[in-house]
Amino acid sequence: MKNKILVVANWKANPESLKLAKGIFSGIKKSATKFRGVETVVCPPVIYLESLKNNSLTLGAQDFFWERGGAFTGFVGYESLLETKIKYAIIGHSERRALGEDNKTISRKLTAALASHITPILCIGEIVRDANLKYLDFIKEQLIEAFYKIPKTKVKDVVIAYEPVWAIGKNAVRDARPREVEEISILTKRIVGDLYKTKSVPPIKILYGGSVTPGNASELLEKGAIDGFLVGGASLDPKKFGEILEIANNFKK
Ligand code: PGA
Repeated sequence: MKNKILVVANWKANPESLKLAKGIFSGIKKSATKFRGVETVVCPPVIYLESLKNNSLTLGAQDFFWERGGAFTGFVGYESLLETKIKYAIIGHSERRALGEDNKTISRKLTAALASHITPILCIGEIVRDANLKYLDFIKEQLIEAFYKIPKTKVKDVVIAYEPVWAIGKNAVRDARPREVEEISILTKRIVGDLYKTKSVPPIKILYGGSVTPGNASELLEKGAIDGFLVGGASLDPKKFGEILEIANNFKK
């Protein structure tokens, strides 16, 4: 069976009440049930996970702390997080990196997620696209430092989300062009392949994230060499998100 397109909703710190969260969730669930050719994942704020579990929709966390639990004020140990039945965890989102999360921390989180059988969605992406092509080295470094402790056998279990910071959210400078996404998708597979000295393309899924809407989703899937999306803003609107799911469902690789 061909691999399903993976579409992940990243709600960030939204919405502001459980009631609203349940409303958005049930809207998304309706579309997800209809478009079964897509693997749909919702990553709500951690506080809503418990109330949204035991549903037919797959859940993910927006972060994954590397300790089971213990004396870590304010953190959520992964043992309690796993109780919410999450299957995925976003790791190294640029909004967390902007608050000081470094590649070393991200590597620890990646290792902990894989050891707990959680599929990590590792976010990478440059802050600016400079004419000197320094952004390519930036991405290479993010990948090398994130993967350096991951054994070859686990590489296939990592999903990578290319999220150029300049294309994300309300401060986006512009939409990423499909060929820019394709460039990083190819580069990412090459870097990971080189790291593990594999001759064939490593079987990792590459998602794209950054202002994905029903307006650009189809072209990105057709020309971006990707396996799905990580959607922020549009994932809080069940109608828009449903349209993205429909586009992904109709896409033939
Ligand atoms: P956006 O966010 O779709 O609102 O640009 C994407 C993300 O940050 O994951």
